[in-house]
Amino acid sequence: MRIEGKNYKTIWFDQNSKNVKIIDQTKLPHEFIIKDLETVDDAVNAIKVMEVRGAPLIGATAAFGIVLAIKENNDLNFIKRSAEDLVKARPTAINLQWAVHRMNNKISMIKSENLFDVALKEAELICDEDETFCEEIGKNGLKVIEEIYNKKKSTINILTHCNAGWLATINWGTATSPIYHAHKKGIPIHVWVDETRPRNQGANLTSYELNEEEIPNTIIADNTGGILMQRGQVDMCIVGTDRTLSNGDVCNKIGTYLKALAANDNNVPFYVALPSSTIDWNLKNSKDIPIEERDSKELSHVDGIIGDKKIDGIQIYPKKSKALNLAFDVTPAKYVTALITERGICEASEDGLKRLFK
Ligand code: MRU
Repeated sequence: MRIEGKNYKTIWFDQNSKNVKIIDQTKLPHEFIIKDLETVDDAVNAIKVMEVRGAPLIGATAAFGIVLAIKENNDLNFIKRSAEDLVKARPTAINLQWAVHRMNNKISMIKSENLFDVALKEAELICDEDETFCEEIGKNGLKVIEEIYNKKKSTINILTHCNAGWLATINWGTATSPIYHAHKKGIPIHVWVDETRPRNQGANLTSYELNEEEIPNTIIADNTGGILMQRGQVDMCIVGTDRTLSNGDVCNKIGTYLKALAANDNNVPFYVALPSSTIDWNLKNSKDIPIEERDSKELSHVDGIIGDKKIDGIQIYPKKSKALNLAFDVTPAKYVTALITERGICEASEDGLKRLFK
């Protein structure tokens, strides 16, 4: 997708430097900085501090992390320890485990002199697949938007939460891919972008990338969606997910659940877009999903700019107050209208998912 008219992907391997390149998302939207990851520790850190974020992208970064580990020290114990560090970097998104597991499987049978090349090829394949899957999600989700448009015949208002855009994947995004496809087809779209406190992925990333693709959008405070739905100003909601269980329960950015409740109360369809790499086929109970708890400073302190000067870490809460920063919540399957995947659209249920993914 485009930034200032130029096409980018979110992560790639640079053959000259033998480093991995990322767009540092902690600097967006005020600065656009491409950063080098030289070592596996750089990759672990980039995931932890959210220079890269979004379930598919952290999976891809972990895959490249294994490549960097092999570049540093082609020793099986070192690679194993690095794999463990990568998986632990963020606990909720299943893509991290999925990608590291896939890399481990791939390299486990390979002679050490070929490890680097084989690992690099696999990491790049993970990226290529994610891009294709997200494009297919877009084509499948487009059908839903077209159906609404054929009835309404005027601008479709779509509400989204967090950033499940191309910045969270390799390209296209999950929740945004149907939006980009509809826009390219000439369907008039307007997006309500939940700000998504505390890290403001909606305001800082989703609105930013929609602006770059010239898609009309309006940032709203996270609590505004309910009244907009009551007023008939939301035609559909679409969000991404960090882990979807085989029973259709959806774990996503904190606040998604409340939006699904409001959508249900107002008969607004609530869609979840996901590549199959985000499905956890093993866990049976959503209470067992590890929910990441992040530093409370993400709530109590804000960054911004005054004029051209970037100001970091301004305290906005009383100094003595405690704050709890849970990063994700679970939306039960009963509130999800349907799942939009690379293989098609299905009911958020075991039967629905099994029909697509035998
Ligand atoms: O904490 P983040 O920014 O990594 O959370 C990201 C989300 O919750 C996204 O909605 C999810 O990963 C889906 S991304 C295609």
